[in-house]
Amino acid sequence: MLKIDLKKLKIEAQKSLKSAKNLKDLDGVFRSYFGKKGEITQAFNLIKDMSKEVRAKFGKDLNNLKRFIEKSIEGKKAIFTKVVPGKEWLDVTAPGKKLSLGHLHPLTVTIRKAIEIFQEMGFTVVEGPEIENEFYNFDALNVPPDHPARDLWDTFWLKDGKMLLRTHTSPVQIHYMEKNNPPLRIIAPGRVFRYEATDASHDVQFYHLEGLMVGKTISVANFIAIIQEFFSRFFGKEVKVRLRPSYFPFVEPGFEVDMSCLTCGGLGCSVCKKTGWLEIMGAGMVHPNVYNACAINSKEWQGFAFGIGLDRLAMMKYKINDIRLFYSGDLRFLEQF
Ligand code: DAH
Repeated sequence: MLKIDLKKLKIEAQKSLKSAKNLKDLDGVFRSYFGKKGEITQAFNLIKDMSKEVRAKFGKDLNNLKRFIEKSIEGKKAIFTKVVPGKEWLDVTAPGKKLSLGHLHPLTVTIRKAIEIFQEMGFTVVEGPEIENEFYNFDALNVPPDHPARDLWDTFWLKDGKMLLRTHTSPVQIHYMEKNNPPLRIIAPGRVFRYEATDASHDVQFYHLEGLMVGKTISVANFIAIIQEFFSRFFGKEVKVRLRPSYFPFVEPGFEVDMSCLTCGGLGCSVCKKTGWLEIMGAGMVHPNVYNACAINSKEWQGFAFGIGLDRLAMMKYKINDIRLFYSGDLRFLEQF
């Protein structure tokens, strides 16, 4: 005796498939036939108790029905999942996807801003090679071979022992003065390299901006005016500078330049170690030997040169406490700008 009428089952299945309106309904239909207690599953369970004669026919019919329902479900599923043109459902309340736009690296922003300010003050931008020979990096800058001042720069020498990765952008002064006569007013931004252990304020590469202004009467007073103006424009607030005597072979006199602390405005705080001043760059009046190396008459011309660490400047502007972050490629850092 058959306890299940497969024909009736088929009609019911067709009905419930017809009334299924979405994937969720369809899933319900699937489970009502193929779930643990589903109709088809139960029908298969009956087979083992059937007589041989009945079993063969029932089994065949049941398998056909099974396939029929499976196919119908698949067919409807395809309709529900397919995007029907013009009938696509759009949830206007769903949160939008954020478009991630690229942006400039903080160092690039710093370099461009510095260039812009100096250009407004009449400086020309000049570039030089990152691989130099020792004449441009040292000799012509009044640092002869075997002079102890060479130890001021930990240098990456290349294999031949004569070429090197420039340790500063000062060599660009020489390239430029070899080809151009004063009066002149240039800046040379670019990458420099030091053979040093890294820490929060030192890296093996960083950016320098060299400046050079030469004329008949260019003095330290001109330098102070220009650099004070530069820092005030760069940081967007009034900045004072002061000079302290220092030694750089290519200038005489040479000085270390401090600017008033941005955090406390010169009153003294933890950033400036209670001095009210921050050490920011080196500068001086161009040494006669430097003019001589470029065949310029040092009795006729005079001027100043300076070198600013651009990474340092960016660190101050954006309050970054580790120079290595600039070169880490770490998006958690970069995406803050
Ligand atoms: N070249 C120096 C450095 O490597 C920076 C510098 C100091 C440049 C004094 C100058 C200067 O032109 O006059 O740290």
